[in-house]
Amino acid sequence: MTVALIPGSFDPPTNGHLDVIERCSRLFDEVVVAVIKNPSKRALFTEAERIDLLATVTARWDNVTIGVFGGLLVDYAEEVGADVIVKGLRAVTDFDYELQMSQMNRHLSGIDTMFVATKPEYGYLSSSLVKDVSSLGGSVDSLVPEVVATALKERSG
Ligand code: PNS
Repeated sequence: MTVALIPGSFDPPTNGHLDVIERCSRLFDEVVVAVIKNPSKRALFTEAERIDLLATVTARWDNVTIGVFGGLLVDYAEEVGADVIVKGLRAVTDFDYELQMSQMNRHLSGIDTMFVATKPEYGYLSSSLVKDVSSLGGSVDSLVPEVVATALKERSG
């Protein structure tokens, strides 16, 4: 059985995240989506809110579960028995840092990272931009799942 671990801040989850999760749910036996406890960037949504949103939007896939981690990702990977870390890549600008992290993680525990190229239509999509657009009154309805759009609207007032 192959277990894939998809880590991230997910503040909030976007359609780009969902696309990667869906594709992994078809490629791997089990997928653990792991929310980092204290993202370096100040989070709009609490850890519990990010977990709830992810649980709602991934409920249709039986082999996807949501977890939460603090500390080293490789320690969490070992805890959940992950065989591989999966990251979505939007553009070459993502690549340098992602490559560096994947090599560090491999150095630390031997775990491999696989990269999934996001769909081109999600190439410009990021949680930060979604938060910006929503807080300034723009529509994010086609960029995030409905439940996330609603949560953003409530948060923006
Ligand atoms: O959604 P994000 O903000 O791009 O996710 C970043 C994340 C959570 C994947 C990254 O910050 C991470 O892996 N953090 C874990 C800390 C860690 O293990 N660092 C050392 C090895 S690179």
